[in-house]
Amino acid sequence: MNSFLLIKVLISSFVSWRTGCGRGVCSVRPGMHEGQQEAILVNPESILLSTFTPDGRKDPYPALSELRKIAPVHYSRALDSYFLTRFDDCHAALTDPHLRTPDLEWYDREVSAGREHPAAEFFYSSMLRANSPLHDRMRRMVGAEFTARRMAALGSTVEELTRELLDTFADATSGGGAANFQEMVGYPLPVGVVGALIGVPRDEQERFYRYGKDAGRVLEPVRSPEDWARADLAVRTLREYFAELLRRRRADPADGLASTLLTLRRAAEEPLTERELADMLLLVFVAGFETTTSLLGLTLFALLSHPDQLALVGRDPALAPAAVQESLRWDTPVRMTERVAARPLEIGGVAVPEGANVTTVLAAANRDPACHEDPDAFRVRRRGTRLLSFSAGPHFCLGAALARMEGAALVRQTVARFPDLALAGPAVRRDSVSLRTFDVLPLSTRA
Ligand code: HEM
Repeated sequence: MNSFLLIKVLISSFVSWRTGCGRGVCSVRPGMHEGQQEAILVNPESILLSTFTPDGRKDPYPALSELRKIAPVHYSRALDSYFLTRFDDCHAALTDPHLRTPDLEWYDREVSAGREHPAAEFFYSSMLRANSPLHDRMRRMVGAEFTARRMAALGSTVEELTRELLDTFADATSGGGAANFQEMVGYPLPVGVVGALIGVPRDEQERFYRYGKDAGRVLEPVRSPEDWARADLAVRTLREYFAELLRRRRADPADGLASTLLTLRRAAEEPLTERELADMLLLVFVAGFETTTSLLGLTLFALLSHPDQLALVGRDPALAPAAVQESLRWDTPVRMTERVAARPLEIGGVAVPEGANVTTVLAAANRDPACHEDPDAFRVRRRGTRLLSFSAGPHFCLGAALARMEGAALVRQTVARFPDLALAGPAVRRDSVSLRTFDVLPLSTRA
């Protein structure tokens, strides 16, 4: 059983670690009066679980920092996984060939619901959840489209699309009112870019935008029956769409991943099946869409909540890529990822048995003081930043350069066009365990 499926049940019975002791062991820190209200939990399990409560999800960083201090490699009984919060441990785990991604074989063994869900079957048979040698074969094929040349060619599409979407946003806010940035720019920009990458005609992109959102639910470890139903429907619909796109591209080749995969398949010794090709397009779409929406919203939010840093970028727009890099470090879209030990291991001095689940908490690694001076500060001029936001090792994100390009275009154009950009109401975060993102980010562009 995937331990994460238990989270929803469990977290309802835990309290926020800042507001009370709940079931944890309490202590009073040096300097605190006895009886002072804000007692600190020192039970690593309670601290970890507090990061899954609604408050903890909003700001998990104080708890993660505490956990890193007292139990950097913590085995959670409740979640049946070793949680790693130090940068070096996470990096070592993600690059260790003996820690494998939980794949279809693992899923069939561990999850009794099995393949009755098309969304699960798609996800666990995708490249993201494949191990060597299948993973190498898939990655070589898709990687052919993610060359520096192809990324540079997409640069003008990114800039143009950003400009168009900001035009619409400017119109919507020209009277001094607010508009939801995520709905108007944060979603359509990555959909347009990933659509161009795959070779989806522009007038068809809107059709699968909603399904993309639903299919993304499969990336969530906590899944309700309603989430499953929507994810299953979305995966079925998108699979059909991409299969049909491949048929069209076979007859009428064009730029983009769909045509590239068809060409490579003809030359391959072990060609992927039609279904595998369609699933590959679906994976690139799902992996590259909401994560980037999340990055765009988080970056603007970080800048707007640090006006001194926003002013630096306003004065020097060449800092835009550095602002995106700092945003990725400071509040990363993908909070954690999982691996399974293929043999007994030692991580940070802790013995990890064969078959154990290991969770690398990317959000915690990015704020490890051993790697970053004053890690909780948001500084766009920070240098030499090391990140795990795009993972590391064989599954390192294929779209990292593209996501950075989208983020930088957005920041550069936004600061140039909207000197009075401001938060114009409460930003609403997604109630999500794995993805840190805003559903609503109300912004105004006029003082
Ligand atoms: C800010 C935006 C993004 C973030 C934070 C992000 C994050 C990640 C992470 C953490 C992984 C690896 C997960 C693991 O190790 O288990 C990953 C893999 C992947 N990402 Fe991204 N991603 C982003 C944007 C994109 C984009 C724009 C694309 C494509 C257009 C993309 C395509 C992929 C693919 C295909 C994989 C699977 C790689 C493999 O398994 O070998 N991502 N991403």
